[in-house]
Amino acid sequence: MTDLQGQPHSPPPPARVMQMICGYWVTQSIHVAAELRIPDLIAAGTGKLDDLATVTGAHPGALARLLRALESLELLARQSDGRYQLTPLGECLREGVPNSMRNLALLAGEEHYRIWAHLDHSVRTGEPALERALGAPLWAYLETHPEAAVRFNNAMSDLARNVHLAAVAAYDFSTVKKVVDVGGGTGSLLAHVLATHDHLTGVLFDLPRVVAKAGPVLEQAGVQDRCEVVGGDFFAGGVPTDGDVYLMSLVLHDFDDEQSVRILKSVREAIPDHGKLVILEQVVPADGKPHISKLVDVNMLVVSGGRERTEAEFAQLLNSAGFRFESTLPSPTTINAIVGTP
Ligand SMILES: C[S@@+](CC[C@H](N)C(=O)[O-])C[C@H]1O[C@@H](n2cnc3c(N)ncnc32)[C@H](O)[C@@H]1O
Repeated sequence: MTDLQGQPHSPPPPARVMQMICGYWVTQSIHVAAELRIPDLIAAGTGKLDDLATVTGAHPGALARLLRALESLELLARQSDGRYQLTPLGECLREGVPNSMRNLALLAGEEHYRIWAHLDHSVRTGEPALERALGAPLWAYLETHPEAAVRFNNAMSDLARNVHLAAVAAYDFSTVKKVVDVGGGTGSLLAHVLATHDHLTGVLFDLPRVVAKAGPVLEQAGVQDRCEVVGGDFFAGGVPTDGDVYLMSLVLHDFDDEQSVRILKSVREAIPDHGKLVILEQVVPADGKPHISKLVDVNMLVVSGGRERTEAEFAQLLNSAGFRFESTLPSPTTINAIVGTP
């Protein structure tokens, strides 16, 4: 593998820093390729530059330069006849494949990109910059921008499929009957849990406009008969009762500590004494070693005003809401299951 200067590994410090400084070049190159559906077109057999330019309506010379950059990023490869093909990395930018990250590429290059331009505001004030960048708080913005809501929900589904599933697999559901997924989005994670555990029933709980889109997800997984769908607001109570396990996947990191305690207290009111709380989140290592969660934490600062947390911070949060921290389960991905009991 080579770096962006075409040099072998370990470029000198200024070159490495330049790669970091210009990280947005990569974000936007991938975003535009995904938006133009270049990976889908190549996968469908449109591998020639001229054909790609015709189908996408792009400027052929400019598109050639973008494709060359994507080749340099090892997302595309060029065959001896000049046709492009996808590499294993490029495959992840196709729509609808099991390991697709296309929707995350769309979200990152669109709303997140615009919000990150205001990071200085967040660092100076401690406030999220989403409202400054987009004109409304996150959930209100999604309410009034349906195309952005689709991007957001689909990006969450990409992550659920590719990152959360391995984390939830660490939990033993063998003695569980009913799983309530709190803030479960359009149901990707719960659908997977139900599909892989025939004996379970589920309750999907999220905002009404979000769960309204869950039908096709549950049907595609063949679990609609075992899954109840409930629309509501966890700040207003109304979390479904009688679950054995309450899943919360990437919900608390959207909120500050005070809001997170309020959400957890709503769950605490609903959960039976024998119930378990299973939180899927990044756990920030307390040491100074490199870890993606430390950048995700800055993303949460600027986008939603939420945060990533260390294990000790999760334990503190649980404690404040009437739960007891039990354990953090090991995971092959960057997301872990954090287990709590009432
Ligand atoms: C980052 S998404 C995570 C979605 C899903 N659990 C996953 O892992 O892909 C956070 C979820 O919290 C939901 N949410 C936000 N505010 C809510 C509220 N007041 N009541 C219920 N759900 C809410 C959002 O609609 C969204 O689906």
